[in-house]
Amino acid sequence: MAILEILKIPDARLKQISEPVAQFDDALHAFIADLEETRQMGPAAVGIAAPQVGYFQRIVILDCSQTRKPVPNHGHLILINPEITHWDGFELGREGCLSVPDYTGNVIRAARITLVAQDPQGDRHEYEMKDFEARALQHEVDHLDGLLFLDRVVSRRTDLFQRKVYQKGANKKRKAANKAH
Ligand code: NI
Repeated sequence: MAILEILKIPDARLKQISEPVAQFDDALHAFIADLEETRQMGPAAVGIAAPQVGYFQRIVILDCSQTRKPVPNHGHLILINPEITHWDGFELGREGCLSVPDYTGNVIRAARITLVAQDPQGDRHEYEMKDFEARALQHEVDHLDGLLFLDRVVSRRTDLFQRKVYQKGANKKRKAANKAH
């Protein structure tokens, strides 16, 4: 297993559209193991998509079971060729991303979705998702289509937030920068 390098903005490869997975073989399973190890590195991300490590195939790992709020979720999921087949309702919520380390942003997403995806063996499953898990899934599927949450914030001026940096001396400078917008 290996920890893979995460592509970060402004890397143009993050805009690339990923291809469907066609082979459910040992190479796919080895890649999934690496992607999972990468997801768990540092503060574990709730989700990661293959193109974030420069592998342009439609693969997502999602695990909303470790989030602070106990919300309905399906636990740890490996989703191959995920397709959202139904959207319902909408909600505004805050998102972050391993590929956008310095910012979080408010994004409108469907509140409830139906998802069809294959598992690592190629078998198809359907999932009903809502709230946080539905949001996280939509964020990850966006990665497969070359989109970041930055592309979906309504206003970069009012809905984008700089992450706090806990470095001595950096805070004062950052506060000044925030005021300046
Ligand atoms: Ni992301």
